[in-house]
Amino acid sequence: MKTEQYQKRQTATATDKCFRIGRPTAYFILLLLTYTVGYLSASSSTSHPPSPSFTSAVTATNYSSPPSSSSSNQLLDPFRVTTRCVDPIPSELVRQTLLDRFFNGSTPFQDFPADHAAKLLRPTIVKGWGSNGAVFENLIPKVKPRTIIEVGTFLGASALHMAELTRKLGLQTQIICIYDFCGWAGFGDRFENLPMINGDVLLRYQFMQNVVTSNKTGSIIPVPYSSGSALIELCELGVFADLVEIDAGHDFLSAWSDINRGYRILRPGGVLFGHDYFTAADNRGVRRAVDLFARVNGLKVKVDGQHWVIDSVELYYDSS
Ligand SMILES: C[S@@+](CC[C@H](N)C(=O)[O-])C[C@H]1O[C@@H](n2cnc3c(N)ncnc32)[C@H](O)[C@@H]1O
Repeated sequence: MKTEQYQKRQTATATDKCFRIGRPTAYFILLLLTYTVGYLSASSSTSHPPSPSFTSAVTATNYSSPPSSSSSNQLLDPFRVTTRCVDPIPSELVRQTLLDRFFNGSTPFQDFPADHAAKLLRPTIVKGWGSNGAVFENLIPKVKPRTIIEVGTFLGASALHMAELTRKLGLQTQIICIYDFCGWAGFGDRFENLPMINGDVLLRYQFMQNVVTSNKTGSIIPVPYSSGSALIELCELGVFADLVEIDAGHDFLSAWSDINRGYRILRPGGVLFGHDYFTAADNRGVRRAVDLFARVNGLKVKVDGQHWVIDSVELYYDSS
């Protein structure tokens, strides 16, 4: 009996002690746990939920748990596209949104060209690759794009062609030209005697001059950055397009990245397309990226000359 009472007292004392000594500790642990759980959940959800129409693109690129070793998805995990995309803004806000973001609110064509460049520019130097391909005339009348994004613009040959096609159709289209205006290592071999200022080959100025000469300053906007950061920025601004043309880096990794990011900012019913489906690299560069992207997203690749086309709905070359 005594032993029982002693045990009860001991237990009570222990519990009591636990509460007396342990309460602050328990609060501290609780606080720590709350903080840790909050931190982990915040860092694991860096992007806004995608709109439903983009689920397939996001499913292919955002894995919440490590893919199984047997899954082909495992190969793609290192290429996750992590952005803080927002919902698409209305097309009519696209131009001003870009001017505000990249050019302090005014058009870069204002007071163009700057004196130091003017004397070195020619009225037009337009060199492109497949820039007048049939794909443009096949797609534009069907899609009737309000916004086009071209990734890899060079001197603007295909952008100017698209601007002319949309003008003829009476469309109010904005063509966003993503390009770092640097050329590529060794490109001087193809373009001898390029004028330079302090080693810069003035591609941005000459592109802008081409746009001015063609009287298209109201419909073409340069976004003078490399494709990776520019596409992410557009996604974060909610600048989405009805047509996205991918024609920048032609190696697998560049094409893969641009295709994933380009598809992410395609409007519902929009079309993603690009040049150089068939090249000397055969299926190691652009074509490998296009085919793999289509496969993991359950999409179809259509071919139009040298161009590949992936649309979000079947509107291209349909039977109607
Ligand atoms: C084939 S050319 C584009 C031609 C153009 N679409 C035309 O025919 O009118 C590809 C261009 O993409 C550019 N480029 C390559 N990687 C790029 C990147 N990461 N971001 C932006 N431009 C890039 C190259 O410098 C090159 O000028």
